[in-house]
Amino acid sequence: MSTVYQATASAPVNIAVIKYWGKRDTKLILPTNSSLSVTLDQDHLRSTTTSRADPSFVKDTLWLNGKEDEIKPGGRLATCITELKRLRQATVENEDPTAPKLSTYKVHIASYNNFPTAAGLASSASGFAALVASLAQLYALPVSPSTLSIIARQGSGSACRSLYGGFVAWQEGVHPDGSDSLAIQVAPQSHWPNIHALICVVSDDKKGTSSTSGMQLTVDTSPLLQHRIKAVVPQRMKDISKAILEKDFDTFARITMADSNQFHAVALDTEPPIFYMNDVSRAIIAVVVEYNRLSLANGQGYKAAYTYDAGPNAVIYAEEKNIKEIIQLVVSFFPQREGAFKDNLGVFPPGAEVNAQA
Ligand code: DP6
Repeated sequence: MSTVYQATASAPVNIAVIKYWGKRDTKLILPTNSSLSVTLDQDHLRSTTTSRADPSFVKDTLWLNGKEDEIKPGGRLATCITELKRLRQATVENEDPTAPKLSTYKVHIASYNNFPTAAGLASSASGFAALVASLAQLYALPVSPSTLSIIARQGSGSACRSLYGGFVAWQEGVHPDGSDSLAIQVAPQSHWPNIHALICVVSDDKKGTSSTSGMQLTVDTSPLLQHRIKAVVPQRMKDISKAILEKDFDTFARITMADSNQFHAVALDTEPPIFYMNDVSRAIIAVVVEYNRLSLANGQGYKAAYTYDAGPNAVIYAEEKNIKEIIQLVVSFFPQREGAFKDNLGVFPPGAEVNAQA
């Protein structure tokens, strides 16, 4: 009987609190600024990917949620697969001549998301992270998650941050080859486990400007982006990292909301302007602002921090003790029967590391 070479890995979604928006190198996916995210809970929002290598396979093939997806030569998927095969050859096969030459076999890859696409959440971050983790496991690569993040980054920028659990920074790096543009863990989930994310699905509509094309338009046309990347983000990265290490929710919340606001301001500063939030998104901001104002007036500090990606859905970070109150507040302002939310609200604790098994 011939040996089966197969491995499965799963990786979670992450939601940025300092946003990545802009590439200085579109092929290598090198960002114009560093970013920082919280990885959400594995059990609820994750992609699971199984890879198999076999000499009988005739081409590299990928199935996404059961449907075959094209692997375009030179495209993002092909780049990740080629890089991982190259690493297999350069490490395991070069060091041990008896190791099976898996780098020469074609691979079959099947990936599933355990959250419906209708949840309106981008799946490229968890998807590419799971793909890279699964091939790394299959090839028994003796490398760190940061090294793997360099490869996942070339699939989708934000994917590099899903290689770690907890609080994760993507350092923009300085090398033109991208070798230092990678993810590091600022703090594990266990450091601050009571920060939860409440996801409010405002719309699951897929229409609109994709992150990839939107951010390049911003790089090409927005004067505000230049100010953001030079004068704003570097200090925010330092301050929010410190806030996380000190479990200082006030500072974490202030910076998170300011950075979401500035990301949407640079989208608006793009020519032609890009609008990701809608009236419901803005109404949720108003509710959170008022809720914090009352809490600050009572001397209780910030209780909630909203953030929005390239779409209208809100993610509200809050300490676990306040989540119930926030859900009640949101539901009272946006009764689900009126259809303000398609299906929904979900609460997600922070997540831990990528899971992998051969
Ligand atoms: C607004 O990682 O999806 O979510 O690198 O082109 O694949 P590509 O873009 P992507 O952009 C994510 C943008 C964002 C902010 C963030 O996650 O940091």
